[in-house]
Amino acid sequence: MKGVLLAGGTGSRLHPLTRITNKHLLPIFDRPMISYGVEAMVKAGISEIMVVTGGTHAGEFLRLLSNGDEYGVDRLSYAYQERPGGIAEALGLTERFVGDDRVLVMLADNIFGRTIRPTIEAFATQQAGARIVLSEVTEPSHLRHLGVPELIDGRVVKIIEKPTEPPSNYCVTGVYCYDPTVFSVISTLVPSGRGELEITDVNNHYVSAGLMRYDILEGFWGDAGESIDAYYEVNDFVRRHGANLG
Ligand code: DAU
Repeated sequence: MKGVLLAGGTGSRLHPLTRITNKHLLPIFDRPMISYGVEAMVKAGISEIMVVTGGTHAGEFLRLLSNGDEYGVDRLSYAYQERPGGIAEALGLTERFVGDDRVLVMLADNIFGRTIRPTIEAFATQQAGARIVLSEVTEPSHLRHLGVPELIDGRVVKIIEKPTEPPSNYCVTGVYCYDPTVFSVISTLVPSGRGELEITDVNNHYVSAGLMRYDILEGFWGDAGESIDAYYEVNDFVRRHGANLG
């Protein structure tokens, strides 16, 4: 299984910090944010990773991560996203790297308290399709900024991106497992209202096909790019408890 770590986008919710650097290079406790994603993948047993980034600070990722040796990565590759055209567009750039393999995709601003290894192990037993990780979020005001699944009898029947009326108390976190059909799904997408190729549209394809499974996360999850408050909340958590444990 290959790993794809997405670190493009504009980071506009963390302006002005992200006017002078890429969001995923900002510190979380004692390390740049992106290094937690690399660590999460390596601890989950993935050693071939592609980082997708863009903008004027892309070169700093090479300076930080180099060829990945220090992080336990066997093969570290990079792709450059010309414009922030969405999470699914960024994933589309990795098609040749992933080839006929399966892929674990992570948004590099998502930080997990515990290892994501159980999800990768569960996906290995899944014949085909996709797998997502849900985290319980109780405040509707928070859910309105996220992808939210509608659940009926324990099955995901639809995922709604940034819903005004959240259909459940769970969000879709930024960890996604796909079989290699994901690239043909991406090729059918059309840009959303905000002009992006949406990962939620990719996920809804697998939901409609009956090929989407999910895990419910145990432990901490945070999206450090969501707001300046969320950024500091994640920082405080990691400083006290650490990340990717287990
Ligand atoms: O954090 C979880 C949420 O992430 C999910 O609940 C949502 O369903 C999902 O759409 C996503 O929502 P965000 O609004 O947080 O996505 P954002 O635009 O912040 O992008 C998240 C990461 O994806 C970002 O850290 C870098 C990467 N990205 C994003 C875009 C738009 C790219 O690499 N390229 C891009 O063009």
